[in-house]
This record gives sequence, structure tokens and C-alpha cells, in this order.
Amino acid sequence: MEAGGIVEKAIREAYCFFVMLQSLGMKKTVPLVIGNWKLNPVTLVDASLLASAIARKQKTVAAPIVVIAPPFPYLAEVGKKIKKSAVILAAQDVYTEVIGPFTGEVSILQLKDLGAEYIIVGHSERRALGETDDLVCQKVQTVLKHQLTPVVCIGERARDEHGDFFTFIENQLRSLAEVLPAVAIKKIVIAYEPIWAIGTGKTATVEDVKEMQLFIETVLTKLYDRATAKMVPVLYGGSVKPDNAASLHKEGDMGGFLVGGASLKADDFAAIIKAVS
Ligand code: PGA
Repeated sequence: MEAGGIVEKAIREAYCFFVMLQSLGMKKTVPLVIGNWKLNPVTLVDASLLASAIARKQKTVAAPIVVIAPPFPYLAEVGKKIKKSAVILAAQDVYTEVIGPFTGEVSILQLKDLGAEYIIVGHSERRALGETDDLVCQKVQTVLKHQLTPVVCIGERARDEHGDFFTFIENQLRSLAEVLPAVAIKKIVIAYEPIWAIGTGKTATVEDVKEMQLFIETVLTKLYDRATAKMVPVLYGGSVKPDNAASLHKEGDMGGFLVGGASLKADDFAAIIKAVS
């Protein structure tokens, strides 16, 4: 076997080991950092350069698990650029149908074929375009059916002094619980992304984040049971930057981050990954 092939095999084996730890109930102990590139960059050349720069900094598998979600047209090329690194490929959305007359949609089979392992579902920017809880749940089921990992985004538009936003989050979790049995919810990742913090520079405080992590776990305990709730990793997203990542991770008690803007600069993304290491 070539040197490159040996490295690749070692990386895959280490990743499988992480996944095995997860399936043994240690899921929350392996943090996850996902870079959501959104509608950036606008050329394949720039996407390739960014992917290569991230891959160079992430050669070996050491926690956290690092994932990048480029726009659909770049998945194949980005997949090639990160192939020999520890970086894992993700997609930003998926359609519920797998094949047929659905102009403009992207199938889970296509994403799987291109090597995507995580699929972001229900991002607030998609919900703002009309995606409902019901559609989000259908997408989550589609992803799980094809043995990939959905990263399900939840989060309130604004905070109010009466704490109604907690009810909003609880309802988002309830809609998932209506369709997902315990065995399925254990296979998803939840990304708590308060909409007011996304792309605004207004990061939630460590206290906000910690409180929400506990709240989500409590709701999942109510909807399932404690052991199941403990298995579901909860990431935080919303203006995560190199200078707030360490405190949010250590004191906020989250399972990692979903990073937008800061994932577009390889150095900033690497600094966030380091803060979680
Ligand atoms: P942001 O985006 O880090 O730019 O706030 C996060 C997200 O939308 O996933």
C-alpha cells in the first residue's frame, strides 16, 4: 500500500474508533466542530484553496472531529482536497425524495455518493425560506434512513423576559420526538443556534449556552429517558470566533460548534478547533 493509502486508512480507523466510542454511549465526549460555508465562496478555485488549507492543518485525527459543509457544487472537489486529511465532508441541506422530477433539489443518494457523512438540516436560514418543523423532520428521517448523520438546527428568533423562548425550543424538540424513536434520536446531532446570534457578532453568553444545554437535555429526558438524552450531542452556533470558542466550550459545556463566518478563514477555523481540542 502507498504511504498516502496507509495514512488514509489510519485516519479512517481512528474515525471509526470515535464512532464506536459514540455508539458505546460516550458520544458527548468527542467534540465536533462543523464549518458551514453557506453561500461562500463564489469560485471553485477559492473553495479548493480553502479546503486544502483546512485539510493541511487537520492531518491527524485528534478530537475534535472536524467537518466542513461547502455549497453543493463544490462537494466533489472539496471531497478530493480533504480525502487524505482528517476532515469530514458535510452538506448544508438535502431533499426528502431521493430521485425523480424535483427540479433544483439534491438527493441524499447524491450526497452519499459524493462522500458527505453529515447533513445540516433545518438551518434557520432555510427555515426563514419556509421550511417547517414537519419538513425538517422528514429530512432528518431521510438522512437517518441512509445511515448518515443529520445535524438538526434549532434556536429561537429572540429572547424574551418571560422565557417563552424555552417553550419554542421545547416545541422544536417535541416535533422531532414525534417521529424519532430513541434509537433514532441517539444518531442525530443537535445544533443550538439562536437566530439573534447568527452572523451578528452577538454571541450567546457562556451562561446562556450552558443553561440551554441543560434545558435541551432535560426536555430530551422528559421525551425519552436520561440515558438517551445524554447520548445526543448539542453543538452551539452563532458568531463563534477564535476569541470566544475556548470559554464557550469549557464553561458552556457544549459538544462543539457549528461555525459560519469564521469557518471561511482557515486560520480562524483552526484556532476554534484548537480551542475545543
Ligand atoms: P455564524 O453562523 O458563525 O456566522 O454566526 C453560524 C451558522 O449559521 O451556522
